[in-house]
Amino acid sequence: MCYHSALMMAVDRIEELREEALSAVASVGSTSDLESVRVRYLGWNNCSAELTEIKKGIRDLSPEERREVGGAANKATKEIETALAERREESVAVAEREKRLSSEAVDVTLPGVPYPKGSLHPSLRVIDEVVDFFVGLGYRVAEGPEVETDYYNFTALNIPPGHPARGMQDTFFLDEGLVLRTHTSPVQIRTMLSQEPPVYVVCPGRTYRRDSDPTHTPMFNQIEGLAVDKGLTLGHLKGTLAAMARHVFGEDVSLRLRPSYFQFTEPSVEMDVSCFVCGGSDPNCKVCRGAGWIEMGGAGMVDPAVLEEVDYDPEEYTGFAFGFGPDRMAMVKYGVPDLRLFFEGDLRFLQQF
Ligand code: PHE
Repeated sequence: MCYHSALMMAVDRIEELREEALSAVASVGSTSDLESVRVRYLGWNNCSAELTEIKKGIRDLSPEERREVGGAANKATKEIETALAERREESVAVAEREKRLSSEAVDVTLPGVPYPKGSLHPSLRVIDEVVDFFVGLGYRVAEGPEVETDYYNFTALNIPPGHPARGMQDTFFLDEGLVLRTHTSPVQIRTMLSQEPPVYVVCPGRTYRRDSDPTHTPMFNQIEGLAVDKGLTLGHLKGTLAAMARHVFGEDVSLRLRPSYFQFTEPSVEMDVSCFVCGGSDPNCKVCRGAGWIEMGGAGMVDPAVLEEVDYDPEEYTGFAFGFGPDRMAMVKYGVPDLRLFFEGDLRFLQQF
């Protein structure tokens, strides 16, 4: 074999080894395989590889041959090392990604976290039903402040200072001239002062009286209604309230008006709804206690003195007003024996509705 071809053989062999090593690096499937490829082609400690042997033999060559074979061998070694390093990095990246994917995996088949669901307060349910009913008739919703002046809560409603009717209301007095409103009737006055007739409003809101027993709480809700127009009569009042009662308690109930007294209505009535449970036939009925009727609130034709107070002409306009307690209505409707339960905020009670 001539010298020249021996040189060529070494260079060819280096090229072969380089290609072999690179394709081995490209096809390994694990980091440990990568390590054995490295040992096979680049050697490790005492474990020699063919490429290392070729390099060792370089010192026996002539300077020109040395440059050629050495250059080829170094270049092959570098390329293999680079390929190995790249694969190693790649496999680390792959491993990292896999680790992240498995640790961050979301099991979409797990049941969701249940969120506690809110529910409407029983009083609010009744308020909504009543307000819906009146809005359906074309009434507007009006509101007023819970801290009210003595004037709106009493005087303008025909209850002058010093009048005994003031004493009946168990009022919470605040600073001079201010009270916690004892009823929603002051909203009647505020509404009439702010507009010309005709008036059709319904006014739900919180009211306050110094009272606490199974059917009274210091804070309670009222719904006021006011209609002022030409030619309104007690018949309109009764028809309107009877329809409202049927809407809230069912088609079978009827309405009864009993004579009563309020300073701001004349005539005044107390309204009762026939018992929607027994209809008056069960003397042991838990809802009406055998009475056959359930008290709902007060009502009447707006007193001319009140119309005059707000500058409406009582010769031209008449009106009716009513006020009832949605809390009491809810007690009856849902069979709750103690009104105080409504305002204690006990979820075990409230979640039942
Ligand atoms: N405001 C009265 C009360 O709280 C109820 C009522 C309202 C009566 C409107 C007549 C007209 O007792």
